[in-house]
Amino acid sequence: AFNERESLYIVLNFAKDFFVQNLNSEEGKSIGLSYFKERGFNQSIIEKFDLGYALEGWDHLHKAAKAAGYSEELLLKAGLILQKEGDANRFYDRFRGRVTFTIHNLGGKPIGFGARILTQDKKQPKYINSPETEVYHKSDILYGIFQAKKSIREKDNCYLVEGYTDVISLHLSGIENVVASSGTSLTENQIKLIKRFTDNVTVLYDGDSAGIRASLRGIDMILEGGLNVKAVVFPEGEDPDSYARKVGSSAFSSYLEKNAQDFISFKIGLYAEEAANDPIKQADLIKQVVQSISKIPDPVIRSVYIRQSAHLLEIDEEIIQAELNKIYLKGQ
Ligand code: UTP
Ligand code: MN
Ligand code: MN
Ligand code: MN
Ligand code: MN
Repeated sequence: AFNERESLYIVLNFAKDFFVQNLNSEEGKSIGLSYFKERGFNQSIIEKFDLGYALEGWDHLHKAAKAAGYSEELLLKAGLILQKEGDANRFYDRFRGRVTFTIHNLGGKPIGFGARILTQDKKQPKYINSPETEVYHKSDILYGIFQAKKSIREKDNCYLVEGYTDVISLHLSGIENVVASSGTSLTENQIKLIKRFTDNVTVLYDGDSAGIRASLRGIDMILEGGLNVKAVVFPEGEDPDSYARKVGSSAFSSYLEKNAQDFISFKIGLYAEEAANDPIKQADLIKQVVQSISKIPDPVIRSVYIRQSAHLLEIDEEIIQAELNKIYLKGQ
């Protein structure tokens, strides 16, 4: 007899196989596969990431799973089907008429799915994701970690992106040390997960105001976790996927190398223009930078950053130290 977690892994693997096979059906080929091809995804990347297709219709997965002997109770617990409102004995598939991205745990087992819409329908969410289940805790996992972990260790660096397709696009560009936060704020456990493989993170968030705000939050979280952090800013409206496809893989790689800034330069760059002739904004900028420095747990690393930011901001180290002391006093 299997326990519940094991049963969930098995049914989620069944669903993964089902979605993967659907990609080769008539409907899957003409809708799902052609969508992936348009995005430049080839057969080998489709296999590497277990990309698939959820057929249109209410109960394709439900029926196939039932025929294979899986109970509705288990399918519900796996987040694969939903109960019809007002009729507890009627069910429907969660993922329908969408391409599917399999979410793997660190060991490579499927634990959930993200499913992307294929039309421009603004009334429906772009992605539908698995809910929290016994085996899928969104805040404990990073998309792509299974495919990335070896490379993260080898490169001693981890690129952090927002989206599923950013991860896949970077792999296509030959960059495999990449994981996605999947559009939500980074958590302490996700940072601990990265820290098992490296102490260095480079944040590559979308070049829009939401992306910039998210990277500022993420950077402080990463510093707090005791990791070193850099950030790359993309041109307005571009994300790592769109930019990699636009400029090609070698130009993309050199863009990353040339534009990776440590977090202080990143923050200063964001505020510098506004602050140039405005003493109040300059003071605010200094406080912003000090706020990030205060998150660094290691006093030696902290002192390096104090010196660097004093230099970049053209102020005395003592001023930064005094601001830091204020923050620490407040925190007590
Ligand atoms: P984005 O809106 O930047 O999408 O959301 P994307 O990854 O660039 O996708 P494409 O290129 O348009 O296909 C970033 C991430 O946020 C999560 C997904 O994980 C997505 O990859 N997200 C976004 C959702 O979960 N639901 C949504 O409706 C939108
Ligand atoms: Mn649990
Ligand atoms: Mn975005
Ligand atoms: Mn994006
Ligand atoms: Mn995108």
